[in-house]
Amino acid sequence: MAALKIAPSILSADFARLGEEVRAIDAAGCDYIHIDVMDGHFVPNLSFGPVVIKAIRAHTKKPFDVHLMIDPAAPYLAEFAAAGADIITVHSEADKHLHRCLQVIRGLGKKAGVSINPGTPVSALEPVIDDVDLILVMSVNPGFGGQQYIPSQTDKIRAVKALIGKRPIELEVDGGVKPDNVKMIVDAGADTVVAGSAVFNGTDYVKTIQALRTAAQ
Ligand code: DX5
Ligand code: ZN
Repeated sequence: MAALKIAPSILSADFARLGEEVRAIDAAGCDYIHIDVMDGHFVPNLSFGPVVIKAIRAHTKKPFDVHLMIDPAAPYLAEFAAAGADIITVHSEADKHLHRCLQVIRGLGKKAGVSINPGTPVSALEPVIDDVDLILVMSVNPGFGGQQYIPSQTDKIRAVKALIGKRPIELEVDGGVKPDNVKMIVDAGADTVVAGSAVFNGTDYVKTIQALRTAAQ
């Protein structure tokens, strides 16, 4: 099995020192920088947009894993690509034209991801399964960092893994991932885990990222 990828979510970082925080998680051995974009409409919170992504791009060479919690998504995809996104994930529940969004993302030369909320069935992925590079299973309701992992999502991760089968699609899990539940999540089929509060609420990022890797084994 390939090594677990860890994607710290900068939603829980110190925004006043964002460049420094990005350099710190890079040096601590993360695989991706997970970037949560919120619009106050699809989710009940606001975060940041392409200008902030562009500003932190110079601070790391690691892939930018951009999780769009915005509705619509289509009008902004080119801007996120230009700002430095490597993976762009849209929610199946957000834009009316999910398939078109995925086509546009790939057309921009980026990896296309689709995300499903805890209340969305796995079947929502079926029509687009051959049009995605990554599936992001939300294990909390999107909008905020620091929420509790929703246990019913473990069976869903397993079902998504089965749906993926042999396709070269990465399975990422986002929300409430901690050293004490990461093994269960990885055993269910996750290739990549997002960790926001688990990483940034601690003081030693190296230790936390290592603790996640060790716990997953
Ligand atoms: C929630 C975001 C998550 C969140 C994860 O809407 O998509 O990426 O920041 O934070 P933790 O790991 O604290 O649940
Ligand atoms: Zn996220």
